[in-house]
Amino acid sequence: EQVYRDGVSGRRPRVPTTAGELERRGRRAMSRRADAYVTGGAGAEATVRANRAAFERWQTVPRVLRDVGARDLSAELFGRRLEHPLLLAPIGALDLVRRGADVAVARGAAAAGVPMIVSNQAGTAMEALAGIGRRWFQLYWSTSDELVDSLLARAEASGCEAVVVTLDTTMLGWRPRDLDLGHLPFSRGLGIAQYTSDPVFARLAQERARAPRSGPAPRVTPAAVRTLLDISRNHPGPVLENLRSPVPRAAVETFLDVYSRPHLGWDDVATLRSRTALPIVLKGVLHPDDARRAADAGVDAVLVSNHGGRQVDHAVAALDALPGVVAATDLPVLLDSGVRTGADVAVALALGARAVCLGRPFVWGLALAGADGVAQVVSDVLAELDLTVGLAGATSAADLEVTRRY
Ligand code: FNR
Repeated sequence: EQVYRDGVSGRRPRVPTTAGELERRGRRAMSRRADAYVTGGAGAEATVRANRAAFERWQTVPRVLRDVGARDLSAELFGRRLEHPLLLAPIGALDLVRRGADVAVARGAAAAGVPMIVSNQAGTAMEALAGIGRRWFQLYWSTSDELVDSLLARAEASGCEAVVVTLDTTMLGWRPRDLDLGHLPFSRGLGIAQYTSDPVFARLAQERARAPRSGPAPRVTPAAVRTLLDISRNHPGPVLENLRSPVPRAAVETFLDVYSRPHLGWDDVATLRSRTALPIVLKGVLHPDDARRAADAGVDAVLVSNHGGRQVDHAVAALDALPGVVAATDLPVLLDSGVRTGADVAVALALGARAVCLGRPFVWGLALAGADGVAQVVSDVLAELDLTVGLAGATSAADLEVTRRY
């Protein structure tokens, strides 16, 4: 309504409403490196395309003459109500797109009334986002258990409502767009603020610098470690503001040592329950058997996701995996990967998702108009969702009828 009212006085939305146009203009607003990083998928990007193709195959079957005057799309998760069945997916290294990106995303999400999942690879320490809307924290399981515990404790202390453990990135995927540019944001010190603001990480970096080496001369100088310690003690704020240039090698190199644990297994997940009081969501579940094991491990929800097609090329589309996972478990099931519109959200809800995470589209909004752009993209998705559900003759997601076209 607001858009049409503004249109009467000649105002057009700053951020395109058409999904394809949002993507085109958002991508154009970024540097080449940022675009490669955000757009890129694994391999030949078959899974990026499959995520969209899966949405195209599902159709709602609208019903008529069912009083849809009052609609309720709120969702309950972990005993708390979400006003809308939508969250912002965790997306790391967004300073590549825009300086101060994480604060802008947090503000945009708060303005639109949806929680933000703060990435383990954010460019801003989670403490600096405390107080800006509702937040969850996403964890990459480090090689250091002590660091994992420290991150979990900080998530609790800074008011995050849940922890999302991403399981599909024990190693970084094969991403040709980044490879062709020889560019990885993290190796330039982008997206490592959760580490540089962490006391355990600072100690690990110090130990690394002191450890005797048999090979070539130490790559981490004591001076760099002192800088790092100083940063982590005094400045929990945005990493770019604090690190200045050049980024201390100690931070980057220690990060590369600790950030992922390829030998992670179900035994590790089983220990999580005793390590945090927060509800636990496992992200990256695609197989029904893994959903069953997740329930056995005592977690609180699973997030069906293929990381936006960025990890395993030819992996099954998230939406295609959703019905099998929903059938396999009583846990709440969330979904991301390929969601572009409110009507997409409606289909995912109809197939049993409790809530949906929006990924790349909010980054395009961020690139175009900062916090306002994020808020605009989210509000558009929510408005379309509400209209789609009502016009399909439903008052809640559970009433929606869908059918698959083969
Ligand atoms: C991601 N994703 C992601 N996931 C995660 O758990 N931690 C992270 O730091 C990141 N970082 C990240 C960066 C970029 C640029 C993208 C595009 C994605 C994955 C993200 O949470 C989500 O699964 C996908 O974005 C969903 O796919 P679509 O809908 O964006 O295509």
